[in-house]
Amino acid sequence: QLEDEKRMIEAHELLSKFYHHLLLNTKEGQDALEYLLARGFTTESIRKFKIGWSLPNWDFTVKFLEKRGYPLELMEEAGLLVRRERDQSFLDRFRGRIMFPIQNPKGDTVAFSGRSLQKGDEPKYLNSPETKIFNKSKILYHYHGARASIRRKQQAILFEGFADVISANEAEVENGIATMGTSLTEQQIGLIKRLTDTVVICYDGDSAGIEAAFRAGNLLTNHGMNIRIAAIPEQLDPDDYISTYGSEKFQQDVIGAALTFMAFKLRYYKLNKNLNDEGDRLAYIEEVLKEIVGLSSAVEKDFYLRNLADEFDLSLDALQQQMGQTGAPRS
Ligand code: UTP
Ligand code: MN
Ligand code: MN
Ligand code: MN
Ligand code: MN
Repeated sequence: QLEDEKRMIEAHELLSKFYHHLLLNTKEGQDALEYLLARGFTTESIRKFKIGWSLPNWDFTVKFLEKRGYPLELMEEAGLLVRRERDQSFLDRFRGRIMFPIQNPKGDTVAFSGRSLQKGDEPKYLNSPETKIFNKSKILYHYHGARASIRRKQQAILFEGFADVISANEAEVENGIATMGTSLTEQQIGLIKRLTDTVVICYDGDSAGIEAAFRAGNLLTNHGMNIRIAAIPEQLDPDDYISTYGSEKFQQDVIGAALTFMAFKLRYYKLNKNLNDEGDRLAYIEEVLKEIVGLSSAVEKDFYLRNLADEFDLSLDALQQQMGQTGAPRS
């Protein structure tokens, strides 16, 4: 059993090296390399993150593994190969894709995600399936590589995607890790907690990213972590932001200016509301009061209550009274 897992990891390591070589040094990898460079990735980070290219053949990987004595059934189990329904013959799972190797917390390569080159070639990222060595909910992209930096800075930056981690790294933000597009899990929080209790959430600026940041923020807070949320302008993600505005602005205006969770929530509750509408305005006040009730510091409570009173021209008295009701246990 353990022997099997060892071989699965070995195969990933070998292939990762070969895909990387194909991308950097061969004619077959040229288009993919040009695509990455045009996007703004540097050769240095292509090396650092061992990005690769899988050939658009049906059985390149099959033959590569067969030649080196890896049992093909085991390689199917490892997620590297799939089977044709027709005759049960093996073929490559990843064909003609930019390969991002994924490491477990120990640093072993246990999975791949392959990005399509062409728009409309779905899925955009094809991932390894869940296997004996790859459980997506227990892995964060670049956790192993970022751990020293996270410890040193006593802060982790949480992104959604591969490109965000890599671009941030180029911008000298080296404590970045990513959930790879799925919601943050308890096990992933456990991994972060081994290193630090401070997290800056830096998700995409679209509504999916904002919703995910709200959920991740609540989950992390419930686990006693200190969090901030870095706001990316709408329609951009951290990688786009860095390409558009540069490293310095990213460091200063995004990471450096990350909002407290409370400040983020005050904005969040305003989304999709028309504050000129009486009903929306009352709903907003109610939501904010609920948040204020949950604060543990009396000073903070007072601070946000006064802000709310000022913003909507309400008396502190009325808010305090209302807060008493909001705080009462519900049946
Ligand atoms: P995004 O759709 O935001 O992609 O998904 P991205 O990271 O910005 O990718 P680029 O810039 O277009 O190359 C965020 C993350 O969700 C996962 C990937 O980990 C991706 O980085 N994802 C996304 C998938 O696993 N499969 C998909 O088809 C799409
Ligand atoms: Mn970039
Ligand atoms: Mn996204
Ligand atoms: Mn994105
Ligand atoms: Mn992107």
